[in-house]
Amino acid sequence: MTDPVATTLAAYDLVAGDYATRNAAATADHVAHQEEFAALVGAGGLVADAGCGPGRDALWFAARGLRVAALDGSRAMVTRAAAAGVPVARADLRALPVRDGALDGLWSSASLLHVPRPQVPAVLRDWRRCLRAGGVLGLTTSTGGDEGWEVVPYDVAAGPLAAPVQRWFVHHDRDPLLALLAGAGLTVTSVAERIGARRWLQVLAVTPV
Ligand SMILES: C[S@@+](CC[C@H](N)C(=O)[O-])C[C@H]1O[C@@H](n2cnc3c(N)ncnc32)[C@H](O)[C@@H]1O
Repeated sequence: MTDPVATTLAAYDLVAGDYATRNAAATADHVAHQEEFAALVGAGGLVADAGCGPGRDALWFAARGLRVAALDGSRAMVTRAAAAGVPVARADLRALPVRDGALDGLWSSASLLHVPRPQVPAVLRDWRRCLRAGGVLGLTTSTGGDEGWEVVPYDVAAGPLAAPVQRWFVHHDRDPLLALLAGAGLTVTSVAERIGARRWLQVLAVTPV
């Protein structure tokens, strides 16, 4: 049986170069979300970027004075992020290699959307475990109640996979997502819907003090 996460990570290995090029510039909405998250985390806070891709956001946080520990499951993405100067490790965002309460902030931009739906509650609980009391989750994920395979819109590097190269997407409607966050012990402080190439939810949530 096909493992949607392994297949998706293999797809990122094949498109990392074109993905990095096409997503080099963040949208104004995205930067505003980063600003709000960074302000809540506070100067010098330690932030994990879970599913950092080529490292655009991690570099932005580092330039903003935050300490960053980035991770990604795609070897090609990790290689790119490291080359860009991001402190990055290859790891699975579904089980973060982080001590309990070690993080001031956890950033997930367009990465929860690759977690199979049945696994999402446990992943959010694990993210909450990693945050200190008063720690901040900054989440951007796609809206909708459906899930499924999508053929990548990026140029594919030569590799062993037969075409089509696909990613598994899991979209979340607003209210069920907020219920999942509450169930994980996270208090949502803001949620905004943004429309770009997809419809996005930008969420900020904190752990109880
Ligand atoms: C759509 S990209 C987002 C990259 C970056 N955060 C951004 O905003 O451009 C999703 C990223 O999540 C990573 N990813 C997906 N599932 C993962 C998993 N289970 N563990 C670690 N990384 C994962 C992919 O390799 C990819 O780099």
